[in-house]
Amino acid sequence: MKKQYKIAVIAGDGIGPEVLNEGIKVLNQVSSMDGSFEFQFTHFPWSCEYYLKHGKMMDDDGLEQLRSFDAIYLGAVGYPGVPDHISLWDLLLKIRKGFNQYVNLRPITLLDGAPCPLKDVTREHIDMLVIRENSEGEYAGAGDWLFEGKPHEVVLQTGVFSRVGTERIIRYAFEEARKQGRSLTSISKGNALNYSMVFWDQIFEEVAKEYPDVKTHSDLVDAAAMFFVKQPWRFEVVVTSNLFGDIMTDLGAAIAGGLGLAAGANINPEREFPSMFEPIHGSAPDIAGKGIANPLASIWSASQMLDFFGHEDWGQRVLKAMEIVMTEGEVLTPDIGGSSSTQEVGEAVVQKLNAASLLNS
Ligand code: NAI
Ligand code: MG
Repeated sequence: MKKQYKIAVIAGDGIGPEVLNEGIKVLNQVSSMDGSFEFQFTHFPWSCEYYLKHGKMMDDDGLEQLRSFDAIYLGAVGYPGVPDHISLWDLLLKIRKGFNQYVNLRPITLLDGAPCPLKDVTREHIDMLVIRENSEGEYAGAGDWLFEGKPHEVVLQTGVFSRVGTERIIRYAFEEARKQGRSLTSISKGNALNYSMVFWDQIFEEVAKEYPDVKTHSDLVDAAAMFFVKQPWRFEVVVTSNLFGDIMTDLGAAIAGGLGLAAGANINPEREFPSMFEPIHGSAPDIAGKGIANPLASIWSASQMLDFFGHEDWGQRVLKAMEIVMTEGEVLTPDIGGSSSTQEVGEAVVQKLNAASLLNS
């Protein structure tokens, strides 16, 4: 009996469906080559288009419908005509929060053949895993809007850092650093954020005591932004808050091939709920429908899904196949200097995966 992985596909808006198709092709290729497991994809139409028809981003019992799946594979949501805070809060954040996906894993690795705007920088120089707190912090959605429209109007956006929430993400990062045998850098801002980030730093120090084997660093976020560009090799495993992680990983994407190559996984480590895998880019309305979106970010997130299911060997092979495609440089989308289509790139990755040499690597 083959192991079945039930995947909920939320392709979403814009280029979401285009890039996800290619990731699905790659997953199917992997399962047919492995032979011991297969994927069963169920598509959900939830998107901004769905919102315009039904007045909601997802069904009322959407989370219940998703709950029994092994994972969620998401394209991108957001489209002109529906306010971004609605598409984000009513679908993506609902899933991340509802399913307690409190870990956001964002690999920032300069794959071979990927374009890098930094001079004399290679794969060894940019190879980090950013672990972003994904459930609270600056994106807790807590606050108030007082005296709206009045001259003395006031808005409050409150950061929420619970001990449980802060400790579990920092502990997860220590475990990951220990597993990888690499250093752990905490990025915070205790000098200016005199409650939340002082607390964060304190918990980082507390948890560090349990991991004397893990080398640690603590950077202020502004300095870290500079070092991402000037000395990216300083960073191996990185742990940071929701907002800082959001911003720093776009910077990370910029130095590691661009948004078309940046992947992210929203993980519920206890596996009580499905985890969600997605490219970190949005729906790119400017190029949607043209067939030129780069599918490599969603293919990378498919490789993260394989890792999550315990098929790290296949996760690595998918990355390797992407590297071969990029190093050869013949089949690339325009954002990374080529003139091929989304489909052609997806097919090239499938073809390289198929190349027998990979099986021996
Ligand atoms: P975006 O990531 O969609 O696009 C930014 C720029 O990068 C655009 O020029 C786009 O063409 C390019 N780009 C993005 N992905 C690409 C790919 N795979 N291949 C080639 N080029 C690519 O961000 P933007 O324009 O700020 O947002 C557009 C919509 O997407 C908004 O509605 C926003 O709310 C939503 N969004 C959704 C996200 C999600 O679903 N996780 C994340 C970010 C934005
Ligand atoms: Mg972002």
